[in-house]
Amino acid sequence: SYASVVDVLAGKVAVDDTVTVRGWVRTRRDSKAGISFINVHDGSCFDAIQAVVPAELPNYQSEVLKLTTGCSVAITGIVVESQGKGQSYELQATGVKVYGWVEDPDIYPMAPKRHSMEYLREYAHLRPRTNVTGAVMRVRNTLSQAIHRFFHEHGYLWVSTPIITTSDCEGAGEMFRVSTLDLLNVPKTETGEVDFSEDFFGKEAFLTVSGQLNVESYACSLSKVYTFGPTFRAENSNTSRHLSEFWMVEPEVAFADLNDIAHLAEDMLKYVFKAVLEERPDDMAFFQQRINSEVIERLEKMVDADFVHMDYTDAIEILQNCGKKFEYPVEWGVDLQSEHERYLAEEHVGAPIILKNYPRDIKAFYMRQNDDGKTVAAMDVLAPGIGEIIGGSAREERLDVLDKRIEEMNLPAEEYGFYRDLRRYGSVPHAGFGLGFERLVAYVTGMQNIRDVIPFPRAPKSAQF
Ligand code: 4AD
Ligand code: MG
Repeated sequence: SYASVVDVLAGKVAVDDTVTVRGWVRTRRDSKAGISFINVHDGSCFDAIQAVVPAELPNYQSEVLKLTTGCSVAITGIVVESQGKGQSYELQATGVKVYGWVEDPDIYPMAPKRHSMEYLREYAHLRPRTNVTGAVMRVRNTLSQAIHRFFHEHGYLWVSTPIITTSDCEGAGEMFRVSTLDLLNVPKTETGEVDFSEDFFGKEAFLTVSGQLNVESYACSLSKVYTFGPTFRAENSNTSRHLSEFWMVEPEVAFADLNDIAHLAEDMLKYVFKAVLEERPDDMAFFQQRINSEVIERLEKMVDADFVHMDYTDAIEILQNCGKKFEYPVEWGVDLQSEHERYLAEEHVGAPIILKNYPRDIKAFYMRQNDDGKTVAAMDVLAPGIGEIIGGSAREERLDVLDKRIEEMNLPAEEYGFYRDLRRYGSVPHAGFGLGFERLVAYVTGMQNIRDVIPFPRAPKSAQF
């Protein structure tokens, strides 16, 4: 029978049973005594399993001694307790079958040594064979499963929001155009420019920057909902925390206010941190040892502690009086730069911090205005090492206030008819937030660059296939 590596290493197969494990060779070592030790990984856990292969096997000379890193194999063997330290069980091989050879081991891109992350990015299709990408993808999977579980357990419905849209949720003009035009026969305007106004079956359309506006309509009917899907930003930001295509988790809650969703964000983060600590200790131990010596401890600390909640206005005062020289000076009214966010999270509190009530003029049109006339009920969660991981707000549910804002910001009112309807027919206070999923994965694993926590990164000038 077949077993995955994790099943054997976790003791799910009885000692003395014979099983077949299939995967890829990580290393081969031959001893003088005429046996070979082959480590095989299959992605089911961090560790590879060791198979002890005796020279008596019929294909020992012809095949086993030619195995190199990356070859795909099926190894049949008897499960025995391992003598080696750090390994629970191993296989006494009784048969080795080779599925696929590595054409030329000297040029196999994933040779067993430490590669730079930049190098691995050029081999996005092969890097999941490495320890580091395998570990990232297992943690990423655990995080996404835990997010769905958290919302499910708390009575939220998962709503799929569209990817093709006509509205610019953030109003930042960072949308990718979607076109059905025959590119060889693009219509031209009178002045000879390409006319995109009818490019999506007669209307202009884009890839969504956020599912929020759509999910709001479901919150205003089904009460507690969330969307979790890909979003796109045509922002030419070549940084370690921006992607052109990333996944966002966006809960939206009817009858909730800013404090409700600030606490929802805190509870959700604690829940998913706990899940990773419990379910992926092998991968987290690797990140702790290789990437960042604090990753485990900082998650453990946060599962129990209350997050610091602070007003933007107080944060500005702290930044102005902290004695640190920033590249971008701070004063009330500015949008916080990554250096400010990181100072607050890393040096001021040493943990994620929730900032609330930002100036109205630096935030999106849909955020609910506070009574002071100059701030909105917005909140961001800032994390050490990366800065903003969550952005959210109470939504402006008063039609007259919303209309005034749309006009002040010169937004095309006709695009927001559906959004205005929600305020015309049984409007309710509601609030929600967006969690940048890759930023969460980067924070949890300690990985430095967001391009290394998504299977195939899309970013300005990066390799894309
Ligand atoms: O702050 P943002 O732009 O907020 C929204 O889109 C709201 N509509 C969300 C809502 O309230 N439902 O984006 C939310 C989060 C950010 O905090 C950040 O973590 C992530 O999305 N994000 C990015 N992640 C990777 N690459 C980018 N270019 C990102 N832009 C935003
Ligand atoms: Mg934001």
